[in-house]
Amino acid sequence: MSAPASTRQAWLIGASHGMGRELALQLADQGWRLTLSARGEDALHEVARGCAARVLPLDATDRAAVRQAAISVFADCAPELVMLNVGDYQPMVATAFDVDLFERLNRVNYLTAVYLLDAVLPLMRDNGGQILFNVSASAYVGLPQAGPYSAPKAALLNLAESLQPELAALGIRLRVINPGFVDSRLTRRNRFRMPFLLGAADAARRIADELGGRRFEIAFPRRLVWPLKLLRGLPYPLVFALTRRMVSK
Ligand SMILES: NC(=O)c1ccc[n+]([C@@H]2O[C@H](COP(=O)([O-])OP(=O)(O)OC[C@H]3O[C@@H](n4cnc5c(N)ncnc54)[C@H](OP(=O)(O)O)[C@@H]3O)[C@@H](O)[C@H]2O)c1
Repeated sequence: MSAPASTRQAWLIGASHGMGRELALQLADQGWRLTLSARGEDALHEVARGCAARVLPLDATDRAAVRQAAISVFADCAPELVMLNVGDYQPMVATAFDVDLFERLNRVNYLTAVYLLDAVLPLMRDNGGQILFNVSASAYVGLPQAGPYSAPKAALLNLAESLQPELAALGIRLRVINPGFVDSRLTRRNRFRMPFLLGAADAARRIADELGGRRFEIAFPRRLVWPLKLLRGLPYPLVFALTRRMVSK
């Protein structure tokens, strides 16, 4: 059974900007006690001033640092929610294939989750709890010029699907968030019109509303998510007939 809202504790990693920042402010309003992590200490303190949270700066691509941070968080008090909200994005055209970009985005969008699981699973065995990964609707299907971002997101979704049954048996609820386009530092790099773009506060509200739910996936907005899910199920000739049109000249 969940604790009353006033005693609920969460560790939000990637809480200094965008969806993570807005979610921190909203959960604090609901009485959650929060530990906030990201690399940018100043930005974290600014968020924490609005919600009296603990600040724990962290580079989530640093495996040893993630372990240390997890030990520190759980020594303080076992949070019922651990959320990984870190991510980075940069489009890439195939004619400017960039291995360094692949390595960087794999570390931040995929390996951070592996490091976090390695660090928190032993600590969550006794009390259970919820682990939430902010993945992306881009994980459903490979779209042009987004591979360095969407490939690690697809790996993350696959990893979560793979682990969910085993972790559920241990009382740990592993869940994913698959948002469409949300206004943030990441999407401001896009030069195309983003359909059904949401504000970060709106996206955070949709996530906060679902925190008590049992469903594996929190996905929104439906107007974008469902067509992408359907696209994933189509035969490849049809998929490519549609995605070819997205290649910018
Ligand atoms: N915006 C969208 O349309 C969209 C759609 C689907 C999914 N998502 C996912 O949603 C999550 C949040 O993204 P956002 O759009 O809100 O972007 P954002 O505003 O840039 O937020 C990303 C957060 O992650 C932190 N972060 C980045 N690298 C980190 C690292 N190595 N270690 C620790 N923290 C790190 C950032 O803080 P620092 O830079 O200070 O470290 C920031 O707090 C990401 O996983 C993203 O992939 C976004």
